[in-house]
Amino acid sequence: MQNISVGFKELGLVNSRDLFAKAVSGGYAIPAYNFNNLEQLQAIIMACAETASPVILQVSKGARSYANETLLRFLAQGAVAYAAELGTPVPIVLHLDHGDSFELCKDCIESGFSSVMIDGSHLPYEENVALTKKVVEYAHQFDVTVEGELGVLAGIEDEISAAHHTYTQPEEVEDFVAKTGVDSLAISIGTSHGAFKFKPGEDPKIRLDILTEIERRIPGFPIVLHGSSSVPQDLVKTINEHGGKLKDAIGISEDQLRLAAKSAVCKINIDSDGRLAMTAAIRKVLDEKPEEFDPRKYLGPARDALKQLYIHKIINVLGSNNKA
Ligand code: G3H
Ligand code: 13P
Ligand code: ZN
Repeated sequence: MQNISVGFKELGLVNSRDLFAKAVSGGYAIPAYNFNNLEQLQAIIMACAETASPVILQVSKGARSYANETLLRFLAQGAVAYAAELGTPVPIVLHLDHGDSFELCKDCIESGFSSVMIDGSHLPYEENVALTKKVVEYAHQFDVTVEGELGVLAGIEDEISAAHHTYTQPEEVEDFVAKTGVDSLAISIGTSHGAFKFKPGEDPKIRLDILTEIERRIPGFPIVLHGSSSVPQDLVKTINEHGGKLKDAIGISEDQLRLAAKSAVCKINIDSDGRLAMTAAIRKVLDEKPEEFDPRKYLGPARDALKQLYIHKIINVLGSNNKA
């Protein structure tokens, strides 16, 4: 990476602190959408500007190596100006998703990220505490906010995958938050990463009882839900009708997520649903118009479909519209 050492405030970005405080007291959640390319970023910013929603732009380790970390950072910087150009300068957080080392978090902080996740959830408890604390101590010098994680979600997180959930133990949260100084906490209460979360016929439930107990122990503390895609069945159908081969699977219902967003859950991570929306739109164009070869003719419709998906989530699931 080039030496582009810069603080997030110079880029017009914000950290997550005030956004989370408002979201917790207002009973809504901030969208945390992942991006890896221009069209995904355009769709996110267009959707948020149109609904006046704050947004967390998430960049994973995989996104950094796919798109080039320097380019991604400049794209995020451009997003601030683009939102203003669209007429609604929404608050934008640039966040590292699933950071797996101190060095990666430090690198991101130095290149303008306003928020990082250090995911020590796969480590033994005391190691998770030590690593998270180290990142917090570094990040807070620059006013960068930090998300930690307790409990392991089923599904795939970058290269790490877990077959079963290890639910967050409410007894651990007070100690973890106090010892590490984290600004928000990702918890495992039944959501799951990826597009193949649950088999059709299953009735996946978010463990609201665990969430309630966590909230009782750390009242008002910002809680994060990963793995919150709902795997819209119409998108899976469109993909498979146009040459795709996705296995049948279902996700977390949007009604349950809406309920969670009304609690201390103030950040909801959605990536897979966007991947499905993009893929469905691209497959449809290429199948119906095999003569097409201009990328704008299939990436454009994919971007429109993504924008509509993000608007739908903001208004009907997260409730973050008009909160910019
Ligand atoms: O939870 C992980 C996100 O969906 C990012 O996925 O690591 O394949 O970029 P990725
Ligand atoms: P989904 O795979 O359910 O979209 O979750 C994304 C996520 O948690 C990113 O960190
Ligand atoms: Zn995640």
